[in-house]
Amino acid sequence: MTENTIRIGIYPGSFDPLTYGHLNIIERAAKLFDRLVISIAVNNTKTPLFTPEERAAQIRHVIGGDSRIEVDYFSGLLVEYARRKGACAILRGLRAVSDFDYEFQMAHMNHKIGPEIETVFMMTGEDHFYVSSRLVKEVASLGGDVTGLVPDNVFVDLCKKYAALQKGVQK
Ligand code: PNS
Repeated sequence: MTENTIRIGIYPGSFDPLTYGHLNIIERAAKLFDRLVISIAVNNTKTPLFTPEERAAQIRHVIGGDSRIEVDYFSGLLVEYARRKGACAILRGLRAVSDFDYEFQMAHMNHKIGPEIETVFMMTGEDHFYVSSRLVKEVASLGGDVTGLVPDNVFVDLCKKYAALQKGVQK
């Protein structure tokens, strides 16, 4: 490795939507890498609430103008994408034990197909370890208060999205 090697980390996920748990990982990971690419998965098997563009806008709004952090999209194999971006590591947040099995399998599979790319796990901050996009959507869709779990712009987007969906149902 040369002294001038730039360390690029990929933080992939659905981010549907961005939560304070994600943001906690992003802020800490930005200190570990020279560049961090937040990579929104498109065309994966999940049916998202927000479009990739909406999710990217939410993330960009929150991270502001930090030139070391890029927001990007990817489809297909994560390892192939990481190679194209010149990344040395894939970053994943770990919350509870329940995340471990899936993450363990994914990290091993990614290592098998891309042994030069490390998977790095960060424990989600203790204030956010129970926060997931799935639960945030469930609570918000049922009219529960998700303030403090997601950034304000995401909170507004969630309210608008569910109000629009509700209108659509009532028509
Ligand atoms: O936020 P998520 O939904 O937990 O993110 C999962 C994601 C998108 C990182 C994962 O499904 C993924 O890497 N998909 C890309 C397809 C791929 O490379 N699959 C093989 C990994 S074992």
